[in-house]
Amino acid sequence: MAERIPDEVIDRIRHSIDIVDVVSDYVQLKKQGRNYFGLCPFHGESTPSFSVAPEKQIYHCFGCGAGGNAFSFVMEMEGLTFLEAVKRLADKIGIPIQLPTYQPQSSIHKPANKMIEAHELLKKFYHHLLVNTKEGQKAFDYLIQRGFTAEMIEEFEVGYALESWDFAMKFLTKRGFSPDEMEQAGLLVKRDSDGGYFDRFRNRIMFPIYDLQGKTIAFSGRILGEGQPKYLNSPETVLFNKSKTIYNFHRAKKHIRKNQEAILFEGFADVISAFKAGCENGIATMGTALTDEQAKIIRRNVESVIVCYDSDEAGIEAAHKATHTLNAAGCYVKVATMPKGYDPDEYIQQFGAEKFRQEVVEASLTLMSFKMQYLRRGKNLQNEAERMQYIDEVLKEIGSLPKAVERDHYLRQLSEEFSISLEALKQQYQIYRFEKKKKDNAHWNRNNIARQSASQTKLLPAYQNAERILLSYMLKDQHLALRVQDMIGGSFNIEEHRALAAYLYGFYEEGHESNISLFVEYLPEKKLVHLVSELAMMSINEELSEQALNDYVQQVLNHPKWLTIKEKEKDKQEAERRKDYVKAASIAMEILQLKKVLK
Ligand code: GTP
Ligand code: MN
Repeated sequence: MAERIPDEVIDRIRHSIDIVDVVSDYVQLKKQGRNYFGLCPFHGESTPSFSVAPEKQIYHCFGCGAGGNAFSFVMEMEGLTFLEAVKRLADKIGIPIQLPTYQPQSSIHKPANKMIEAHELLKKFYHHLLVNTKEGQKAFDYLIQRGFTAEMIEEFEVGYALESWDFAMKFLTKRGFSPDEMEQAGLLVKRDSDGGYFDRFRNRIMFPIYDLQGKTIAFSGRILGEGQPKYLNSPETVLFNKSKTIYNFHRAKKHIRKNQEAILFEGFADVISAFKAGCENGIATMGTALTDEQAKIIRRNVESVIVCYDSDEAGIEAAHKATHTLNAAGCYVKVATMPKGYDPDEYIQQFGAEKFRQEVVEASLTLMSFKMQYLRRGKNLQNEAERMQYIDEVLKEIGSLPKAVERDHYLRQLSEEFSISLEALKQQYQIYRFEKKKKDNAHWNRNNIARQSASQTKLLPAYQNAERILLSYMLKDQHLALRVQDMIGGSFNIEEHRALAAYLYGFYEEGHESNISLFVEYLPEKKLVHLVSELAMMSINEELSEQALNDYVQQVLNHPKWLTIKEKEKDKQEAERRKDYVKAASIAMEILQLKKVLK
């Protein structure tokens, strides 16, 4: 590397950042003892096994094994190079640095960069057309008449695509974008007849769609007034994956954190209206059912989610599905309901912001109340058979509630409403409860085994365990590392341990003191970084006694001898099988000698 950011600057950044702050931008963390825990952003999970250690300034996931320091976290999260990650964190804490000029600004591959650039440019121009030109007046008036304000149009960068077949085509090619690439970006469409290109979006109100970081990756174009399709979306592209995109997420993120709650809407007109009405933590899917991936992204940032969908039949069905998906991702879910026939946008237009906040958002139903309403639909509870079916369905739901007080509450409610003895209800519900427990146990066992094998040392052979424990002390204490170097050198039996020890000896020989977060930057392989974070998170006593040190060292050194003994024992059996008793006896002597040394 010819030119680089000076080490002192990187050091200063390293000392000024706190990994808890850095990770908190992506993961909701809860303090537990010395460390923080949250849901791992690198793999899907619903119980937290991702931990952050502020004292060591590292993170580690007991589930998938990911780990490292603040820089590697940002690198992995955002797909950045080391220097880009340094720059990102420097920006975050306000230390000005310049990346060497030859360094590519982003490691996203080139065509994607180009596509984003095209989207950003078009977005600005569409917006200009809407707010400043005669051609955009009709669209602007339509939006205002619908209740949009100029501020909302600014904030959400709404625009207008001209009624033209080649406006975007000319706009983009003039700026050096190739039509072929822009077709792949979803902005142009290729004509079958002559292979020419034309604009996908014509005479539509343009809503930019952003990725989680706020980069424009697609558009959704609304027709002015009535007509089909009402919304025309960009197709799936390299940039735009509908099932992972959450509308307005980047803007809502800080409000979601602050309120400890997100509101999930069906349409982005709802998000924009709610934003103006003071609910700035609103997000929406892209007009499709909420996916598991989207639910996981949400859960990583917040636990509590209010589902606020249209109050028509389709909306209620969709809300019911979304609550299920969110629940499965580990979210605590509430449901906001409105009088029949309204969507949030229309409700706000008609009744105002305050009423929306108080009577819809704040009056959200608990998930159980919503389910009870949901199960009631279309049933005539005067009819005994339908009533019994309803009670049975509700009992099943009650049986799956995690908290005893909640279960009790709803059982009583049910008992009062239908004048059925609490005893009878409890008897029936015990059956459902039992079924749920069986399922949970199976799940818990699976989880626990996965976790143990990743984090605990118990299940490993003794020598392997000993190596891990030694290394974890060596990471924390350079003096101990030097002593182990004298006693064992490079004789660790596991290849990765051997490599790690070699890097660690080198690190200390350069004059560094123990510093795990710094050390990981010296490791050339992610595999080793993950191993270090795992070892650093192992719970070990503060002090390693002389006795224990010697025992561990012996176990490491003895392992190859045990292997030799095993070999010899095989040879001996083989000799016995051949009835070569002389040979067998001589091998037996050798084995005895070897074992004596081990004692
Ligand atoms: P307005 O009618 O403009 O108020 O929109 P809305 O938010 O009320 O729309 P609606 O409830 O009908 O739909 C919710 C979401 O579904 C929208 O935000 C779009 O993302 C999506 N959607 C609606 N209509 C279409 C369509 O015709 N095509 C596609 N691809 N998506 C649509
Ligand atoms: Mn609407």
